[in-house]
Amino acid sequence: MATTKPKTTTTKKTPAKTATPAKTASKTTTTRGQVKAKNSAAEGLTELFVDGLKDIYWAEKALTKALPKMAKNATSPELVAAIEEHLTVTENQVTRLEQVFEMMGEKAVAKKCDAMDGLIKEGESIMEETEIGAVRDAGIIGASQKIEHYEIATYGTLVAWAKTIGEEEAAEQLQMTLDEEKEADMTLTEKAYNTINFDAADEDDSSEE
Ligand SMILES: [Fe+2]
Ligand SMILES: [Fe+2]
Repeated sequence: MATTKPKTTTTKKTPAKTATPAKTASKTTTTRGQVKAKNSAAEGLTELFVDGLKDIYWAEKALTKALPKMAKNATSPELVAAIEEHLTVTENQVTRLEQVFEMMGEKAVAKKCDAMDGLIKEGESIMEETEIGAVRDAGIIGASQKIEHYEIATYGTLVAWAKTIGEEEAAEQLQMTLDEEKEADMTLTEKAYNTINFDAADEDDSSEE
């Protein structure tokens, strides 16, 4: 019979948890786990708002290049038309953002949006992973809706921030874009539910034989 030692013999080292004296609280002070802010960190909501504008400005510009590629890879004429229409809308949104920068007395500057970069890359890999036709169309819709949802979340936040800082005119402009993104998302859902997903599912049957 094996004898097991009771586990209670080890002496626990108790870390001195108590009363770690707070270092002089300054902007750069970080305690464990807290991200250290860059020197360029936003000091208030207005600055954070302008940073957000730069981010989505990059994203919209990137989309003006990504959408034509998606349209070329789509086969459903309805889907092609929807993407092309949203391209025109997106180009207009770029201009609208430039106007919002102007309202804020800021230069229109694009700052790389890692999220949109990733979403566009994901769209590209979905195209690589599907044969051209209904299945790729369904994939393109899925990728596009992720993009629209990211935009909806972003513009929703920007509208709220603009209102909070009293930039009503900017809020109105951004609300227009938010509505367009919601409409684009709905159009894509309709296309998916009405035809494209079913056409893609038909491919299952033909490949099962
Ligand atoms: Fe957009
Ligand atoms: Fe969009």
